[in-house]
Amino acid sequence: MNCFQIIKSILDEEYDQISGNEVEKDEQINDKLKQLRQEYTQLLNGHNISYNNHITRFAYIYAYVTSHANLVCTLIEKNSELNSIFDKEKVKVACIGGGPGSDFLGILKYLMTNQKKPDIKFQICDQEKAWAESWSDVDDKVERTFNTSTSYLPLDVTNSNDWKNHQKYFQSDLFTMIYFMSELVALRDLANQYFVNLFSQAKSGSLFLFVDNNNPEFYDWFDELAKTHNIDIIKSQEDRITVPFEEEKSDLGKYYVKFDSPKLTANVAYRIGQKK
Ligand SMILES: C[S@@+](CC[C@H](N)C(=O)[O-])C[C@H]1O[C@@H](n2cnc3c(N)ncnc32)[C@H](O)[C@@H]1O
Repeated sequence: MNCFQIIKSILDEEYDQISGNEVEKDEQINDKLKQLRQEYTQLLNGHNISYNNHITRFAYIYAYVTSHANLVCTLIEKNSELNSIFDKEKVKVACIGGGPGSDFLGILKYLMTNQKKPDIKFQICDQEKAWAESWSDVDDKVERTFNTSTSYLPLDVTNSNDWKNHQKYFQSDLFTMIYFMSELVALRDLANQYFVNLFSQAKSGSLFLFVDNNNPEFYDWFDELAKTHNIDIIKSQEDRITVPFEEEKSDLGKYYVKFDSPKLTANVAYRIGQKK
């Protein structure tokens, strides 16, 4: 399966789990799509988004995962510092706040499009345990010629009891933080200790890919951490990026006909950093 066929298969599984008949399910999903759009505008006011039910997870995967995966793929393609790490034989990637799978799928799309086949291990870290269910059998869906393995680590970065005993993935080659810090900004004081540990213990040469809403409240936090922990910012850009979507429409199948278009244009700030 290509990565958008994988998304479709996961959407099918989530859709089946939503209670009600088709009309009722679609109505709940449409409401949730609107609600999520609204909720993302409230992050700076401390609004907390919960992904712990099937309707929210379906809505998030449909509206945002397609877009964010494309963003990740586009940024890897555009930046040689990033894409060259996939020429190595073995690569370890930690997707921090990567529960919905966008970071993983974006990298997978890049590998598939460019026929790169490193032995690649993904560690997906996220506080929402339910995402693990969605991705538990994803390795079986990826064509065998791609050597991917994914493991899921449920952890809350605002709670040191949760993360302090699980730090093996701090030795990854690449850390992705895609639309993650924006969700934590109101909990910055509680989450900062996690990032300080991660940034200070990351190995020399490891790369960081940060992508988030184009708002200094979010990227200043990343920039400050980078500055104080020997992370060289190789690329720093604010940009409006429209993701290529034509090929994915048919993969999203019936859902694309039923629901509003997924997010296609993103006003982002992104950073590529490298630990000295
Ligand atoms: C907006 S989503 C971004 C997901 C993905 N990276 C993407 O781009 O689609 C934010 C993710 O952060 C996770 N998250 C929020 N607070 C967290 C925390 N305190 N610790 C760990 N993960 C958290 C959520 O469960 C959610 O999966």
